[in-house]
Amino acid sequence: MEYNRFTAGRSGYPRVRMRRNRSDEWVRRMVSEVRMGPADFIWPVFLREDDQSDSGIAAMPGVKRLTISEMVDAAGRASELGVPAIAVFPYVEAEKKTSDCEEAVSPDNLVCRAVRRLKAEVPDIGIVCDVALDPYNADGHDGLLRDGRILNDESVEMLCRQAIVQTEAGCDIIAPSDMMDGRIGAIRSALDAAGFKDTKICAYAAKYASAFYGPFRDAVGSGSFLGGDKKTYQMDPANSDEALREVALDLAEGADMVMVKPGMPYLDVIYRVKDTFGVPTIAYQVSGEYAMIKGAAANGWLDGEKAMMESLLVFKRAGCDAILSYFAIEAAERLKQDWS
Ligand code: PBG
Repeated sequence: MEYNRFTAGRSGYPRVRMRRNRSDEWVRRMVSEVRMGPADFIWPVFLREDDQSDSGIAAMPGVKRLTISEMVDAAGRASELGVPAIAVFPYVEAEKKTSDCEEAVSPDNLVCRAVRRLKAEVPDIGIVCDVALDPYNADGHDGLLRDGRILNDESVEMLCRQAIVQTEAGCDIIAPSDMMDGRIGAIRSALDAAGFKDTKICAYAAKYASAFYGPFRDAVGSGSFLGGDKKTYQMDPANSDEALREVALDLAEGADMVMVKPGMPYLDVIYRVKDTFGVPTIAYQVSGEYAMIKGAAANGWLDGEKAMMESLLVFKRAGCDAILSYFAIEAAERLKQDWS
C-alpha cells in the first residue's frame, strides 16, 4: 500500500479509527498478520556423556545438558508437541579437545552416537547438526588455528569430514556455523560424492561476532579455551549489506536454508534477507537472548512467559520461517494450552 498526503487526508480521523480493529480479543485475533505454532521451532539441545555430572548451565536457567537417553525422551516429547526438529550440541571433555580437532570427525563422537539413537527411536523428528570445530578444539575456535591465524581451506576440509560422519550417523540437516569461506560448496560436493544428495544444508549464512553467545560457550565447554575473539570469521555487527552477500554466496553454493544469528538484535537483517531472497530463513535466538529473558524474569523485572512469546512472534513478523530457540518446548506447551 502507498501512503501519501492525499490518501492520509482523504481517509483520516475521525472517520478512521485504528482502535476499532483492536476492540476485542476475537477481532485482534482475526486481523493478526502472523501466527506462530510449534512447527516454527527447532529445539537446540546440549548433550553430555553418561558419566559426566550435570553441573547445569549457570546463565541458562531451565536448560540442562542431557545424556543420550534423556535426549531421546526429550525428543519424543518435542515430537509429540509438534516441534519438527532438534539441533544437537555436545559438551566435550577437555581431554578430547585437541588442536587438530580429530574428535570432530570420529564416527563415535557424542553427537554421532546421539544421532544414531535418535534416528532409531524418534524417527519422525528432523535432526540438525552444527558443523564447526569449536567444541573439539583445544583453541576454542570454529576453525583450525596455526601461528595465531585461522586457516580457511584446511578447516573446510575438516568440516567436510565432520559433515560426512554426522550424515552417516543419520543427520538430516547439516548446519555449518563456522563462517569459513567456501564451506557450503565444499560440503555440498562432499555430501553428493558420498551419495547423500538429499541431505539438507542450513547455512549459518549471517553469523555475527556476538557477545550473546557467552552462555552457549559455557554449555559446550569451549568458552574457557577460547583466547581472543572470532572476528576474523564471524561478521561485524555493524554490517547488513555484507549479510546479503554472504547469503547470496551460500545459496549459490547450494544452501537449502539460511540462518541469521543472533536473532532479536538482528531483526533488520532477517527482514532484508527474506525480502531479498525469499528463501527459507531461520533465526537463532541464541543463549544470551534466552539468558536475558530468563534472568529478568527471575528477578521479577519482566513477565517471563509473555516476554518469551513476544520474543518469538516478532521473528515471524520479520519474515522468519523457523526459529531455533531454547524456549521451543516451553513455547510449544504454551501454544498447546492456548488452542485446547
Ligand atoms: C559454534 C556455535 C556457537 C553457537 C552455535 N554454534 C557459538 C560461537 O560461535 O561461538 C551459539 C549459540 C548460542 O549462543 O545459543 N560454532
